[in-house]
Formats: sequence, structure tokens, C-alpha cells
Amino acid sequence: MKALCWQGVNDLSVEQVPDPAILNAQDAIVKVTASTTCGSDLHLLGGYIPAMRAGDVIGHEFIGEIVDVGPEVSRHRRGDRVVVCSIIGCGRCWACRHDEWSLCENSNPKPGVTDLMWGGTTAGIFGYSHAMGGFRGSHAEYIRVPFVDYNAFTIPEGVADLDALFASDAAPTGWMGAELGGVRPGDVVAVWGCGGVGQMAARAAMLLGAERVIAIDRYPERLAMTARHVGCEVIDYTSTDVTAELRERTGGRGPDVCVEAVGMEADSTGIQRVYDGVKQQLRLEQDRPIAVREAIHACRKGGSVFVLGVFAGFVDKFPLGALMNKGLTLRGAQQHGQRYIPKLLERIAKGDLKTSYLATHTMTLDEGPKGYDMFKHKKDGCVRAVFRPWA
Ligand SMILES: NC(=O)c1ccc[n+]([C@@H]2O[C@H](COP(=O)([O-])OP(=O)(O)OC[C@H]3O[C@@H](n4cnc5c(N)ncnc54)[C@H](O)[C@@H]3O)[C@@H](O)[C@H]2O)c1
Ligand SMILES: [Zn+2]
Ligand SMILES: [Zn+2]
Repeated sequence: MKALCWQGVNDLSVEQVPDPAILNAQDAIVKVTASTTCGSDLHLLGGYIPAMRAGDVIGHEFIGEIVDVGPEVSRHRRGDRVVVCSIIGCGRCWACRHDEWSLCENSNPKPGVTDLMWGGTTAGIFGYSHAMGGFRGSHAEYIRVPFVDYNAFTIPEGVADLDALFASDAAPTGWMGAELGGVRPGDVVAVWGCGGVGQMAARAAMLLGAERVIAIDRYPERLAMTARHVGCEVIDYTSTDVTAELRERTGGRGPDVCVEAVGMEADSTGIQRVYDGVKQQLRLEQDRPIAVREAIHACRKGGSVFVLGVFAGFVDKFPLGALMNKGLTLRGAQQHGQRYIPKLLERIAKGDLKTSYLATHTMTLDEGPKGYDMFKHKKDGCVRAVFRPWA
């Protein structure tokens, strides 16, 4: 079958790879009908995620049709149209039973370096390095889905492909940031990043009752899209001092909840860009935590900051003093999609939550390298490039 493979830093190619087969009794094979780029893939492309190997198939946000199931699969059958969570849970370990699916203890048995570095690791993730299980990704014609009973969700009739697609990763990630960030009715919420994840977090905050939601980015198309489809306020960080602007808009107090949806390759207009950029390139720090620092600085005293953006390891100039003295709560996680996907599909079906507009560009799998180039460089207003291998 055809698949989009990582070959090295900023090097992708479409290759023929062996078809996947059922390896375990709880597996299914899914024919991928749509698979999309995610900001997390940019960290792979940039070479910031360890344990990638040339030829690895990338991609983790997808929908498809079940074409084969193992003997112990009970909730799904051939022909089911499903959205699959990007992060793999086993459904039975302590973490999965406590609804903390991205911490699954069974789906990533050989994490290697991350276990050492973090003192514990995440679940397996499709197409996301050998430190996250070495699973083949979804930018392919077919994919093996382990523990399919827990990781695939039947798409309700009437929900279109491109609406269901983002229930795999962007929408549950955003929802988790708002919910575990503790958004309550009446809150003011600020969201850093207007990519797919930040927009979904902003929308979730509104649906959870936030009184004001303010999203921050630099790209005019993304800011305009967020204002239009999410319906929240926006700030262009290149035209103002974000912390001062947030203070101004919140009566001097700062947002109650700050959601960071930017990650390790954060940008900035100031000296931090140079400082963190150089340190990251020299591997003196692994991540550029520019938006995290700003969120901690801007957050109201006693508020909370949730880190959705992906970080790999150690950062420099972390404002621990602000965190401690302002009484902040800081959390982060890979998404616990299995907890949210059924509810999100219901909201999508009802029209509460709009997602398909994120798919700014749809193309064939052969156009994968071009799609990533557009997505990485935000060309032509690209927010998500969607590959449809069978279209
Ligand atoms: N926690 C999870 O489970 C999970 C799931 C999916 C994605 N992610 C992560 O979430 C992050 C966002 O993903 P995405 O798909 O939306 O990515 P994206 O690349 O499409 O969007 C990131 C946005 O952040 C903006 N940005 C950069 N620096 C900024 C700054 N200083 N202030 C404000 N905005 C800034 C960029 O301009 C860009 O629009 C990535 O780090 C990704 O890895 C996490
Ligand atoms: Zn993702
Ligand atoms: Zn588990």
C-alpha cells in the first residue's frame, strides 16, 4: 500500500510499504478515508521528537472504514465507519479505567528514553516515533488499530467525514484543555495559538460557559478564522504586548484560565525568539516555552494554566517564582480522547461544535509532502491539510 513516510528532518516521501495485518486478537484494520496534518507532526518534521526512524509512516488524526477485525473484537465489525482516537488506550489498565487514556500502561511497552527522562511515559500514539510505541501512522491507505473496541468510535449517520475527522485529535484536545484547565461559567479564558487545537480549545471554553474568550496568534487568516467560526475575541501578538492587553481587557486582573496551544516551536517578536531558538538548536534546551512563560505571566493570581502544546523535555528560564507566588495551577497532558469523543460527536451532530472548516486544503496522499510544506509554512491560509487516499 501507499503511505507518507518520514525520511529525516524536513524530508517526507510517499512510498510503497507492506499492508498492515491483524497482529493481536483485539486489532482491526481500517481503510483510511481521511487523515489530517497536526501541529504535533511539525515537531517530528523539525527533528524535535526522539526515536524517529527513516521510513516511519506518520499521521495520527483520521477516520476510515473497518475492513477486518481480530477474533476478540466485540464492539465493531466490518463496514463500520469510524473515527479513531490518535492516542491508543488498552481500555483495561488502571489509567484507562480512570479515564486517563493518554497515560495507558499497556499501549507503549518500550518507551526507551522518554521513560528515563520523564519518570514515566505516555500511551502509544499512531505515527509518533518509537518512543510512543512505534505504531504506523494514518497517512496511508490502511492502518492497524490496536484495542479497536476502545479506540474507534462509530460516526453517527448525518455527520460528514470532515466533521468527524477532527473528533480524532484537535477537538478532544481542545476540549480537554478547557475542561481540565477548570473553565467555569463566567470565566475569562485566554488561548495561545489559533491552529486547529487552539481554535477547538477556544470553542470548548465558550461551550463550557466562559464569559469572554480571547485567542492569540500572529497570522491574520487564522485570527480572522477564529473570530468568525469560534466567535471569540482575538489578539495579534505582533501588534501589542499580550500581557498588558490581557490585563487591560480583564479589568487589570488577568484571565482566570490560560490554555497554551502552541508547543515547543513557539515564536515571538522579542528577544526570546533568538534566545530560545539558539539554545534549542544547540540542544541546550529541548523546547521553546515562549507561550507557556507568557501564559504564566499573564494569568490572574490563583488562576490555572493548561499546556496542550507538545513539549519534549527540559526548558530554560521557567518562571517557577511566578507560578508559586501567584498561586497558580499548572497542568498539561496528551489528550484523553476516549473520554470526550462520544460527547463531541453528539455536539457535532447537533451543530454546537463546528469542525470541518479547519480542513482548509484537501488533497490526495501523493500530495502529502506538498500538504506538509503548506501546513508548516502556513501557505495559502493552510490550517489543516487533509489527505484522502481513496478519493
Ligand atoms: N496535548 C495533545 O494531546 C495535543 C494534541 C494535538 C496537538 N497538540 C499540540 O498542540 C499544539 C498546537 O497544535 P496545532 O495543530 O494547533 O498547531 P499549529 O502549528 O497549526 O498552530 C500553532 C499556532 O501557534 C501559533 N503561535 C506560535 N507562537 C505563538 C505565540 N508565542 N503566541 C501565540 N501563538 C503562537 C502559531 O502561529 C500557530 O498558528 C502543538 O504543539 C501540537 O503538538 C497537542
Ligand atoms: Zn495531533
Ligand atoms: Zn490502558
